[in-house]
Amino acid sequence: MFYEPRLQNSGLAIDPLKALVVPRPIGWISSVDLAGRVNLAPFSFFNMVADSPPIVMFAPSGLKPDGSPKDSLRNVEAVGAFVVNLATWDLREQMNATSARQPAGVNEAEVAGLEMVPSTIVAPPRVKASPVALECRYLQSVELPSLDPGEPNTVLFGDVVGVHVADHLIENGRVDITKAKPIARMGYSLYTVVDQTFRMTRPD
Ligand SMILES: Cc1cc2nc3c(=O)[nH]c(=O)nc-3n(C[C@H](O)[C@H](O)[C@H](O)COP(=O)(O)O)c2cc1C
Repeated sequence: MFYEPRLQNSGLAIDPLKALVVPRPIGWISSVDLAGRVNLAPFSFFNMVADSPPIVMFAPSGLKPDGSPKDSLRNVEAVGAFVVNLATWDLREQMNATSARQPAGVNEAEVAGLEMVPSTIVAPPRVKASPVALECRYLQSVELPSLDPGEPNTVLFGDVVGVHVADHLIENGRVDITKAKPIARMGYSLYTVVDQTFRMTRPD
């Protein structure tokens, strides 16, 4: 099969592209607005894109029903910081609950029954139950092309300035991330769990 996404001519009921670029890690982004109100939402257009310094990105797309930008975008651009919390198997239902459309100022963490704890460096708090959290200073936004002017695509980049790792994940001087069972997004409404690994060494 060959198709062109812009023409939507795959012949399938749903464009399968998001089922092909998998798995996509989930950046579970906590932020605060200028009044300090907490916001929490998952983004699977998320990744680490540089190592030195460590830089992550997440990409809110589209607008809220009232036509305003998503709260995460607005908060991060206004306040200049965010936290990436690791979404895990144990927290899958809560993660999903925090994706519900809520008016600005509603704390999705509270709605999902999640306790937040203060971060060390940045203003937004982190999810207490998440075993990994990356404290980030906002760097910049990039507006990407959009096929619909009412559905903007923005990428926000952040510098990872602090990293929390639960002690129980550390064994023999290394992090065993399979113990945290991170979840990741596949296509449609499918997810996968990182619970196994294999080793390969580079030829050079
Ligand atoms: C697993 C998962 C991944 C998601 N990834 C994205 C994404 O990459 N970009 C996006 O705009 N929305 C994504 N969403 C939807 C947002 O979480 C949702 O629009 C949320 O209400 C945004 O919240 P906010 O307005 O508080 O920022 C995702 C939802 C789920 C459940």
